[in-house]
Amino acid sequence: MAEPDLESEQIRLKCIRKEGFFTVPPEHRLGRCRSVKEFEKLNRIGEGTYGIVYRARDTQTDEIVALKKVRMDKEKDGIPISSLREITLLLRLRHPNIVELKEVVVGNHLESIFLVMGYCEQDLASLLENMPTPFSEAQVKCIVLQVLRGLQYLHRNFIIHRDLKVSNLLMTDKGCVKTADFGLARAYGVPVKPMTPKVVTLWYRAPELLLGTSTQTTSIDMWAVGCILAELLAHRPLLPGTSEIHQIDLIVQLLGTPSENIWPGFSKLPLVGQYSLRKQPYNNLKHKFPWLSEAGLRLLHFLFMYDPKKRATAGDCLESSYFKEKPLPCEPELMPTFPHHRNKRAAPATSEGQSKRCKP
Ligand SMILES: Nc1ncnc2c1ncn2[C@@H]1O[C@H](COP(=O)(O)OP(=O)(O)O)[C@@H](O)[C@H]1O
Ligand SMILES: [Mg+2]
Repeated sequence: MAEPDLESEQIRLKCIRKEGFFTVPPEHRLGRCRSVKEFEKLNRIGEGTYGIVYRARDTQTDEIVALKKVRMDKEKDGIPISSLREITLLLRLRHPNIVELKEVVVGNHLESIFLVMGYCEQDLASLLENMPTPFSEAQVKCIVLQVLRGLQYLHRNFIIHRDLKVSNLLMTDKGCVKTADFGLARAYGVPVKPMTPKVVTLWYRAPELLLGTSTQTTSIDMWAVGCILAELLAHRPLLPGTSEIHQIDLIVQLLGTPSENIWPGFSKLPLVGQYSLRKQPYNNLKHKFPWLSEAGLRLLHFLFMYDPKKRATAGDCLESSYFKEKPLPCEPELMPTFPHHRNKRAAPATSEGQSKRCKP
């Protein structure tokens, strides 16, 4: 977005839809967003790769919310047009399994923008870390079903999450799982600038992305769901690669070497020539999960199809017999909750989302 010229009378901004600029009417000069000053910051709850997240109180409504500062690219001109578009779209999304983006508020400076979101007590990454015992299979099914319902909704709205992982899955004290940090991936530019693999986790990245595909589809989210399902079942990450080449190698070790036969178009992917993939003819999923039922293994296989076109969709997974056989998914209320470090100061459970039932 073009920097408004504060000295002059008029503010001219670049058009999103058409080439050229338009003049901001004087009455909209200060925008129509509330100020972040209307929120009392209570404590820092997360600092991800791109933004700081606070637990905060809306002083107008007394509601407890999560406030995420959108980190801007300093070299660029303010907030990218694509993220504005994305945020506008996300504000309209409403689903019990998607974190609610309530509004966008502004700080003192033009470049400080905050997202106001429904507050969730924990994220699955810290939950997994702090749990004394692994999730039961019934609990895993309950979580994954909720992730799938949220994803089905996102995908139906033409949104690819692009960064699904356990730290982006939040859970309320009522056991309601909500996908967070969604869609905004584009706001920060994807693929993200090269960073150490420790910062931007590779573990959930689909093979077509690792091999440089330029067409991103909803199936990249489904690969990540496979990794999340496996991680919840095994209580440890499935494919914890330390570099892109290591990540690809771990995938090949687990699933066998891909070929043009099982994945038409594979050999033409931009980065295929850069790696010499080990020859590994077997699919080792069954060895990794010897105790898993046939239906469970079928679901994992379906999520880990090399060919993105053949990979399970969220709808396919929701139909899976795995979720209909014993142990049946537990009720969200039976999810483990811990006194979480964030809640030390006992957040009043005023958030609307918390009192609502989790089912769509
Ligand atoms: N709505 C929310 N309620 C509670 N905690 C949240 C919320 N949104 C984010 N967090 C916490 O902040 C962390 C980082 O937020 P996230 O949106 O994933 O940003 P980043 O892009 O920095 O990863 C999350 O892993 C989670 O622990
Ligand atoms: Mg995140």
